[in-house]
Amino acid sequence: MARLSRVHQTKWCFVTKKKVAVLISGNGSNLQALMDACKDSDYPAEIALVISNKPDAFGLTRAAQSAVKSLVINHKEFDTRESFDEAMHQALISHNIEIVCLAGFMRLLSASFVGKWQDRMINIHPSLLPKYKGANAISNALAAGEKITGCTVHYVVPEMDAGEIILQKQVPILAGDTLETLTLRMHETEHKAYPAAVRIIIQKNE
Ligand code: GRF
Repeated sequence: MARLSRVHQTKWCFVTKKKVAVLISGNGSNLQALMDACKDSDYPAEIALVISNKPDAFGLTRAAQSAVKSLVINHKEFDTRESFDEAMHQALISHNIEIVCLAGFMRLLSASFVGKWQDRMINIHPSLLPKYKGANAISNALAAGEKITGCTVHYVVPEMDAGEIILQKQVPILAGDTLETLTLRMHETEHKAYPAAVRIIIQKNE
């Protein structure tokens, strides 16, 4: 959607905002960071749809508070992964979505679905990939005695946490860090990284 936006003090121009969908399963703090970034008239994206596979995800409340359209597509109501993925695909298509952001979305996606959104679907992961793929990335980095970890925004490919890296940001692991303190610091960094990465991929394709 084109929005009139002020550039510097006096010049006005149209910023075309890409339609982004965010897929969540839980808290949705990264969704919040993306919705907040989209409030800036110069930011090149708008969150046009939130999809949760869990009816009780707090991210749905966040979407409602920001007047962003959301849908629950409950994976438990589908017989197969493919039929669940197809329902999501149809929802994305019917809302004219151009970019899909996974933000704490806790379902594996079929290769067929990933193929349909190739180069248009990205994910945030709480490690400096290729280190610590999969679940428990923060605690695994902590347990390994790393001094630095971080987050990665990457394109989604069928293999988990393996797609081309768009952006990485480091997070130091401090003496005395617990899973809670490190997770908190990780989230602060993620909330800057994800909006920045969305901007990067949009500008790359302009
Ligand atoms: C984030 O740490 C993200 O890296 C991982 O899942 C977590 C989601 O957190 N993929 P939230 O739901 O965005 O708060």
